[in-house]
Amino acid sequence: MTNNIVIFDTTLRDGEQSPGASLDINEKVNIARQLALLNVDVIEAGFPVSSPGDFESVSRIAREICGVSVAGLARAVEKDIDSAARALEKAEKPRIHVFLATSEIHRKYKLLKAKEEILNLAVKGVKHALKYVADVEFSPEDASRTELDFLIQVVEAVIDAGAKTVNIPDTVGYAVPDHYASIIRGLKENVKNIGKAVISVHCHNDLGLAVANSLAAVKAGAQQVECTINGIGERAGNAALEEIVMALKTRRDFYHCSTRIVTKELIATSRLVSTLTGLRVQRNKAIVGENAFAHQSGVHQDGVLKERSTYEIMKPEDIGLQKTKIVLGKLSGRHALKERIKELGYELSDEEFERAFEEFKHVADKKKEVFDEDIEAIIGVEKMDVPNIFQLESLSISCGPNAVPTAGVRLKLQDGHVVDNATIGDGPIDALFKAIDLSTGIPGKLQDYNIRAVTGGKDAMGEVSVNVEVNGKSVRGRAVSTDIIEASAKAYLNAINKVSAKSK
Ligand code: KIV
Ligand code: ZN
Repeated sequence: MTNNIVIFDTTLRDGEQSPGASLDINEKVNIARQLALLNVDVIEAGFPVSSPGDFESVSRIAREICGVSVAGLARAVEKDIDSAARALEKAEKPRIHVFLATSEIHRKYKLLKAKEEILNLAVKGVKHALKYVADVEFSPEDASRTELDFLIQVVEAVIDAGAKTVNIPDTVGYAVPDHYASIIRGLKENVKNIGKAVISVHCHNDLGLAVANSLAAVKAGAQQVECTINGIGERAGNAALEEIVMALKTRRDFYHCSTRIVTKELIATSRLVSTLTGLRVQRNKAIVGENAFAHQSGVHQDGVLKERSTYEIMKPEDIGLQKTKIVLGKLSGRHALKERIKELGYELSDEEFERAFEEFKHVADKKKEVFDEDIEAIIGVEKMDVPNIFQLESLSISCGPNAVPTAGVRLKLQDGHVVDNATIGDGPIDALFKAIDLSTGIPGKLQDYNIRAVTGGKDAMGEVSVNVEVNGKSVRGRAVSTDIIEASAKAYLNAINKVSAKSK
């Protein structure tokens, strides 16, 4: 049997408390719409008493978003609860979320109140909220640092007062999984009326354990998880919704739990939140990071192409991505390149492929990621099928504001001989082409020279195409490289090789 875990999203309340993230009302409504598509159970839309803007956004979300519970946060004081109730007036399923700190540190330094007073205020707050809505949640703030016997007392009292959900916040991210799970177990074993309420967990990520703590709590019997998209929130953030949901889905065998989340909406939701808050998702972030489904190692690429479960525990399609990303680079092997060439719609003979692979390795050595356009450029060159009568072995260029442009080239001939020549010119390219002419013994006249970046970025491949007149005939040559001088030499040689091949 699988239990349903209630997903309480607090992106618009705790998430919006992230330093640097502030959303206007329309942006909040847009995110709420997307959260509804994602099918979260509860949207915590804001803290109505905290500002007129928060009040307005909670009211609009309450009015406009149907089919999902909308919660408003309130301290355990009448003014806050009244404000939350007014903001939630038009909600189809309103929830008031009342909180009050219970830990000794908060009682002593922040609230200046004794345990008895805290207990009374908590109960009063819940009862006051119940005058407006049936669905009241109570959070003993800093629960994980609260004495367990006092926490048990508070939880029992608020459930008696009518709270339907009791949330156990790890407000400062102090808990570790075993400790946090033991709190949940302690409540389940010792709170007499615990069966009348849903136990919820709310973890902050100060030690990087928010998701681990939440999952440990689920294993110990928690039935609601409070979390945010991309894990945004106060300080180091909250537990990331996408990680909780995908962990429960992927390891259903272990947790025996499911959620109602439409996981195909995860990527869209993550991107929307990132765009609107301006909080970028790190590349290697679990589930929604750019690299989460990208394979760079040749061994992994080969494995995934043969059978994706070799290196993938989730399907990218399940979170709304098109497919696994094979990042072609220096670690990629023949299998990955062959597949990509096929996907791009090209068919190469074995010989053409071997040459393309050689060129690909050469490019990949210089460039971190080889893009599809790079591959097309490589194939374009290979498909010309021009014999390497003269092959560039090495070149050197010297030029600068007060220097005489000088080029040296070493060419390898088909019979294995090498020819070295160096000369000066009007510019580096002129010197380079003159040095090539000397080495081939075929004087060419440059008619046209074009260079363009094949891909974006500073490490983009440069494509050079030339028109060279040899013996009164015009020939085109083309080559690509991250080094534009090298691309120029190869393009020129490509043209000369064409002429040489024809005259043989
Ligand atoms: O972290 C926390 O304690 C909170 C409460 C208001 C639930 O965000
Ligand atoms: Zn919080």
